[in-house]
Amino acid sequence: MGKLNFKVDKNKCIGCGRCISDCSCDVLERDENGLPKVVDDAEERCMKCQHCFAICPTGAISIFGKNPDKSLKTFKIQSPEAVLNLMQSRKSIRKFKQENLNRNTLNELKNMLPWIPTGCNNHSLAFTFIEDIESMKKFKNETYKKIAEMINENPNTETAQQMKVLLDSYNSGRDRVFRNAPHALIVSSPVDAPCADIDPVIALSYFELYAQSLGVGTLWCGLLYRCWKSTPAIVDELKLPNGYKPVYAMLFGVPDVKYERITQPEKYKIMSYGTVFTKLKSFVKDCEKSLINFVK
Ligand SMILES: Cc1cc2nc3c(=O)[nH]c(=O)nc-3n(C[C@H](O)[C@H](O)[C@H](O)COP(=O)(O)O)c2cc1C
Repeated sequence: MGKLNFKVDKNKCIGCGRCISDCSCDVLERDENGLPKVVDDAEERCMKCQHCFAICPTGAISIFGKNPDKSLKTFKIQSPEAVLNLMQSRKSIRKFKQENLNRNTLNELKNMLPWIPTGCNNHSLAFTFIEDIESMKKFKNETYKKIAEMINENPNTETAQQMKVLLDSYNSGRDRVFRNAPHALIVSSPVDAPCADIDPVIALSYFELYAQSLGVGTLWCGLLYRCWKSTPAIVDELKLPNGYKPVYAMLFGVPDVKYERITQPEKYKIMSYGTVFTKLKSFVKDCEKSLINFVK
């Protein structure tokens, strides 16, 4: 059975081989009866993606002890328009109701996290939730306190000057970093993860869209990122597991603002590699055709 605990239900397997051909790490092959089996000594290269488990049309495969009958079935998205509308109507929220999110919504958000993709399926992200207004106040006070200490220690640096702008703003009643959000999510990676700086950003993108679908407002918090870059002592407050670094943060909570229509943003540059060449080829073909017709 081995480390992967890979099992095939012989009564259900139809020998289609989809599990074998979809394995990106070539971990599976056919046995003498045409059923899938783990290649000798290949266990170590399994990425634990469970593609074999997911693709099986009859639910014949179990891996890591997972029971296919306990998986939800996939279904075709009925309304791509609704998904597009969700993406288009997402806005940065900077005004939040001063109330905690209800527990169920918070749990729904947490329950979505395992499906976030990570490079090499590394799956080692750490998610630090600030779950209530009181904890947020504490974290906010500690952040600004540590920024003040950093400025006192090195008052003449450019970083200190920049942070002083944020601190002065906070002291005069305008919290530009946290925007009075009741909650925050900070995503951290092991420093040696294959995609340490990318995975957390993908995670927050998933989180943001799902949150907004649940009526929860979000704000990417680049300023908190700048704070902890300038004042690493802030990171101690998060009590991350050993070897982890915080990568990015998002504020969230019940929005105290409603947007009525979708914006009409500037377009990004969209390039099509190879198009010029393809067009040139069809132009040459057209010329050839005209020439042949002309000669005829
Ligand atoms: C990586 C990133 C970091 C951001 N950091 C902040 C921030 O610290 N404070 C803030 O008010 N907005 C922040 N924003 C929000 C942007 O200003 C916002 O996305 C942009 O103005 C477009 O508005 P929209 O998100 O409502 O479409 C950030 C956005 C991104 C993508």
